[in-house]
Amino acid sequence: MRALLLENIHPSATEGFARAGIDVETRPGSLSEDELVATLPGFELLGIRSNTFLTNRALAAATDLVAVGAFCIGTNQIDLASAARRGVAAFNAPYSNTRSVVELVIGEIIALARRLPEKTQRMHDGIWDKSAHGSHEIRGRVLGIVGYGNIGSQLSVVAEAVGLRVIYFDTHDRLAHGNAQRVPTLDDLLAQADVVSLHVDGRPGNAGLFGDEQFKKMKPRSLFINASRGMVVDDASLRDHILSGHLAGAALDVFPVEPKRQGESFESALRGLDNVILTPHVGGSTQEAQEEIGTFVSTKLASFVDRGNTALSVNLPELQPPPLDGSFRVAHLHVNQPGVLAEINQVLLDDGVNVVAQNLATLGEQGYVVTDVATAPSEGALARLGAMPPTIWLRTHS
Ligand SMILES: NC(=O)c1ccc[n+]([C@@H]2O[C@H](COP(=O)([O-])OP(=O)(O)OC[C@H]3O[C@@H](n4cnc5c(N)ncnc54)[C@H](O)[C@@H]3O)[C@@H](O)[C@H]2O)c1
Repeated sequence: MRALLLENIHPSATEGFARAGIDVETRPGSLSEDELVATLPGFELLGIRSNTFLTNRALAAATDLVAVGAFCIGTNQIDLASAARRGVAAFNAPYSNTRSVVELVIGEIIALARRLPEKTQRMHDGIWDKSAHGSHEIRGRVLGIVGYGNIGSQLSVVAEAVGLRVIYFDTHDRLAHGNAQRVPTLDDLLAQADVVSLHVDGRPGNAGLFGDEQFKKMKPRSLFINASRGMVVDDASLRDHILSGHLAGAALDVFPVEPKRQGESFESALRGLDNVILTPHVGGSTQEAQEEIGTFVSTKLASFVDRGNTALSVNLPELQPPPLDGSFRVAHLHVNQPGVLAEINQVLLDDGVNVVAQNLATLGEQGYVVTDVATAPSEGALARLGAMPPTIWLRTHS
């Protein structure tokens, strides 16, 4: 197996592939579509970040490719439907930077409560302004977390460790961690929280979730943090509530419109406000997160080629078959249509092999069956399975 890793993916990925016996070739930059077409044949695995666009044409040329890893969070740069039709599994690292976001938010809560943005600016301006006015400890303050998923729930745990009392609101039933308390409505949370921190996902219904109405319902002199999605917050309204003094400060890591390129100018209604921290969408950007992403995605790709594990694939049906324990595995990806499972089992029955375990999952146009059998099927049986019209690919593991 050969893997091509582009875009300076962290060396932890190369180490992960080496452990699985996979040869790795690395390149520092991204490749254009033409370059991908010329380069990909001969590689079974591809690793990219956000600047390589794996188009339908590039995928069509990549005749040896079995899986692609997006060593980042987003997968918009991959034509996922085309990859799925061709049986190329795609994986990403949705949770590897959770802790990085949490640590940034904890730092921001303390910085805002002590009015550090103002204090440091004054010092740079040559003004010695030693005063406790407006500075607070966070101990005993109420943190209201909106969206108690991966990041929100981990923030909850770390926040309690530094003395905050945590309440949360989520549209789903989410189990409370530690001593955190769930509140029934967003309004309840806004009425009680000294700090409101948003960690909702990017579903379309969350656009404009926070505007004038919600800011008005927050406690006077409370703090506001958004490190989730830019489109969730009406920045002009936030500006009004900071300027009026109703809110004592805010920290924003994400914005409705973000510059596309390094060095491009940043426009926002929130620039130039006192006690407002603005960061360029770096919540998840740490060396540790990059290392974790390298390990996480390379492990997923290795597990896919080693035993047909598609758990957390973003485009193929998910199955997590256990490590093989002396049996023989037949993994079959096919077009999702009636009768495929019955046909597979008929072939195995005709061949006289005993099925030890079998799992089927479907996702959209694809179906995936993993069958563990006690003894290896005959060449003829494997050829029959491979020749079934709905078959996209057939792989065996032993
Ligand atoms: N700033 C960064 O660099 C950075 C890094 C990673 C993730 N993120 C963003 O952080 C957000 C949270 O990430 P995650 O991994 O925890 O996601 P997640 O999907 O695990 O959790 C999101 C939670 O929000 C809840 N939710 C959705 N809409 C809601 C609403 N209107 N009210 C209340 N709850 C609602 C969901 O039920 C879910 O529990 C995402 O938007 C993600 O894109 C930002």
